[in-house]
Amino acid sequence: MANTNYIEKLKFRFATKQFNPDKKLNNNQIEELKTAIQLSASSYGLQPYEVLIIENEELRQKLKTASWDQSQITDASHLIVFCANTNVDDHYLEQYLKNISETRSIPLENLSAMRDMISSTVLQFDNDTKLAWAEKQAYIALGNLLSAVAHFGYDACPMEGFDKTKYDEILDLKSKNLHATVIATIGYRSEKDDLQHAKKVRKPQNELFTEL
Ligand SMILES: Cc1cc2nc3c(=O)[nH]c(=O)nc-3n(C[C@H](O)[C@H](O)[C@H](O)COP(=O)(O)O)c2cc1C
Repeated sequence: MANTNYIEKLKFRFATKQFNPDKKLNNNQIEELKTAIQLSASSYGLQPYEVLIIENEELRQKLKTASWDQSQITDASHLIVFCANTNVDDHYLEQYLKNISETRSIPLENLSAMRDMISSTVLQFDNDTKLAWAEKQAYIALGNLLSAVAHFGYDACPMEGFDKTKYDEILDLKSKNLHATVIATIGYRSEKDDLQHAKKVRKPQNELFTEL
């Protein structure tokens, strides 16, 4: 895969149903994927989510039963759980502004326009709207992970087929102001997974795109 171009890599990518349980991603590979996730774009840069990277087999076994028993949960190398923050409030915003101030050496008082902008938009959302907004940001990070995995020539399956409430319980997410949003399993495909040979089913471009 190393010399193929980006479109070829995207064609090679598929939502892996059967992983090779004997092939693991190593620490360096995981670190690169973490950086790819970290570099994701987000609304105002607030990154209103946290990401769990789970290798522990016992824990994954428990989570599998809360994931329609899908085999990817335990056969993949790692399970990634994107969790929306449920505490995007004044304190959260201040922490973010402090990070900008320190990272870019900008005095905090110069960030008041940004504080006002975020305070008057996102922080005014009701809880449901705010959670939906945070979850959308987490999906952008998921997309970035999928592209990174394709780029490096590993495999992944994005997954919504799991019980969010059970994930919150098993992973004790509520106490950390988190809510399980979407997951991905990553690793290497099994040769037995026939779907890797199936043609991509997509809308034709004339239905998908309008050029004006
Ligand atoms: C948000 C999301 C959730 C998905 N949930 C599951 C899932 O729970 N289990 C699964 O096997 N595939 C899941 N898929 C994979 C899709 O079925 C797959 O991406 C789609 O059929 C297109 O096929 P391709 O990705 O192989 O090109 C999910 C995909 C996305 C983007």
